[in-house]
Amino acid sequence: MEHIDLYNTIFKRKSIRKYDFSVIDENTLSEISDQIGKLEPLYPEIKTEIKIVSKQDVKGIIQVDAPYYIAAFSEVKEGYLTNMGFMLQQIDLYFSANGIGSCWQGWPKPTKELRTDTSLEFIIVQAFGLPKEDLYRESINKFKRKALNQITDLESFDELIEPARLAPSPSQPWYFTGDTNIIHICYKNTNSLLSIMAQGLNKIEERLKKIEIGIAACHLWLGALHFDRKIEFIQKNNENIKIPLNFSYVISAKIQ
Ligand SMILES: Cc1cc2nc3c(=O)[nH]c(=O)nc-3n(C[C@H](O)[C@H](O)[C@H](O)COP(=O)(O)O)c2cc1C
Repeated sequence: MEHIDLYNTIFKRKSIRKYDFSVIDENTLSEISDQIGKLEPLYPEIKTEIKIVSKQDVKGIIQVDAPYYIAAFSEVKEGYLTNMGFMLQQIDLYFSANGIGSCWQGWPKPTKELRTDTSLEFIIVQAFGLPKEDLYRESINKFKRKALNQITDLESFDELIEPARLAPSPSQPWYFTGDTNIIHICYKNTNSLLSIMAQGLNKIEERLKKIEIGIAACHLWLGALHFDRKIEFIQKNNENIKIPLNFSYVISAKIQ
């Protein structure tokens, strides 16, 4: 799959919540498996396992009933959630570019058998299957997203932050700041009163936000490749970075 196809898909993709339950043919499933093997990580040293599983293999609060799911597992290391967001967003775009619908699922889990079948930690599930609704949005105006000036104070990177702005997300928690050759990405902290009241919920939200930053970083990366800009993701010491109050720093992208 060419990066250019993934880039073009950013501007029309949408989450698919209605599926046709007929089977996807073996060839297509094996192409999806090949594609999973080629996903590019943010941190190559982090071990990951990404499996295609069926409806029976997924339990919990299933908000989207689909014939297939992707279940993602990872070694627990610095940046592992963001790494998985970055990787799985490539498969979300691949699905959309190839006539298959998908939707990230923050709440369900694979069955205990699947979770204990690996030494890696379960991270997240993505539903997929043949779509039973329009696969694409007609135009960018149909995306419900914050405006660019609500998510960045940078003026020189509009063409890279625009694809990140359109990234799928339940909460659009991101903010992009930095300088003429670097973009720092951070996310909005959960309201402190809320976090005292609902600690368990807050923990899940925190995990999802780190995954969402990886998803936005994937769109930023595809934008950079499209515009022939050199991009390198780095981790800065966050004490030296100026980010807005009540935001947490995650990662920076050096751009040339
Ligand atoms: C990490 C993550 C978790 C999500 N979890 C759910 C979910 O549990 N149920 C659901 O219906 N959609 C879920 N979504 C999809 C978002 O609601 C969706 O991306 C957002 O509303 C924007 O719509 P779009 O993807 O159609 O552009 C999730 C998306 C992300 C990125």
